[in-house]
Amino acid sequence: MITGASSGLGLELAKQFAHNGYDIAISGSSDRIFEAATIIRDLGVEAYPHKADAAKYDGVEDFWNFVSELNRPIEAAVLNVGIGLGGAFAETDLEDELRLISINISGTVHMAKRVVKHMLPNGRGKILIVSSISATQPTPYETVYGPSKAFGFSFAESLREELRGTGVTVTALLPGATDTNFHSNAGMDSSEIGSSEKNDKVLVAKQGYEALMSDEDHVIGGDEETKQKAIENRTTPETVKAARHAKQARLQD
Ligand SMILES: NC(=O)c1ccc[n+]([C@@H]2O[C@H](COP(=O)([O-])OP(=O)(O)OC[C@H]3O[C@@H](n4cnc5c(N)ncnc54)[C@H](OP(=O)(O)O)[C@@H]3O)[C@@H](O)[C@H]2O)c1
Repeated sequence: MITGASSGLGLELAKQFAHNGYDIAISGSSDRIFEAATIIRDLGVEAYPHKADAAKYDGVEDFWNFVSELNRPIEAAVLNVGIGLGGAFAETDLEDELRLISINISGTVHMAKRVVKHMLPNGRGKILIVSSISATQPTPYETVYGPSKAFGFSFAESLREELRGTGVTVTALLPGATDTNFHSNAGMDSSEIGSSEKNDKVLVAKQGYEALMSDEDHVIGGDEETKQKAIENRTTPETVKAARHAKQARLQD
């Protein structure tokens, strides 16, 4: 199962699973999820699309019930759905930020709870949590987004350790900026990041899939430059990283 798979990284991850013979349940909030299912079926596996709003408790529960009713053991769960939000904190709408927190944090915890309780009695299962390189640095002008992804990274590493020896594994994928609709949807087209060249989503999805299958605790998604940036982020002072990100993420007039 993969959340947020109408397009972007979720759909690319679904293709990785399809190429490896998995049938896949996918969720999205728009009718595009049904088009995604057609794309997946064309790769020779079954796709089970479901439209549900991951920002709402009932939406998360609804997709989980849909997956449960398929009555098949879940081999792998990709908690991918997430949204961004650009702009100065003093000017962005609180409602948008609370919605982001609902999807990126509450929704991830909610679905992880259902998935873990399903996988543990089976004694097997793989969970991929899509975080971000933003988890390794402050993200001014995306001041709520970055912390929501830091939550995902720490949550994944914590859960992984708790589940050690149970047969259920947890991996975090931390992509750098990637060529999906993400930045546009976040209102960041006019920022330096929004208009810069990005990582190939096919490469990032492949790296996430392979890290999940080889039971790595986490993987940076992207090219060598992205991986190098993540390494440097370990020792670069937070204030330096914050200033750099502010320049890249600030919206231009
Ligand atoms: N792209 C990047 O640069 C980047 C970098 C690091 C991490 N990430 C992470 O990667 C993940 C996927 O992002 P992406 O780049 O693929 O973004 P995207 O192109 O905007 O795709 C988002 C996906 O989530 C679905 N979605 C959005 N809101 C939803 C909701 N309320 N309920 C259910 N589904 C919803 C969308 O489907 P519908 O349109 O049908 O709702 C779509 O399939 C996110 O967690 C993001 O934080 C992305």
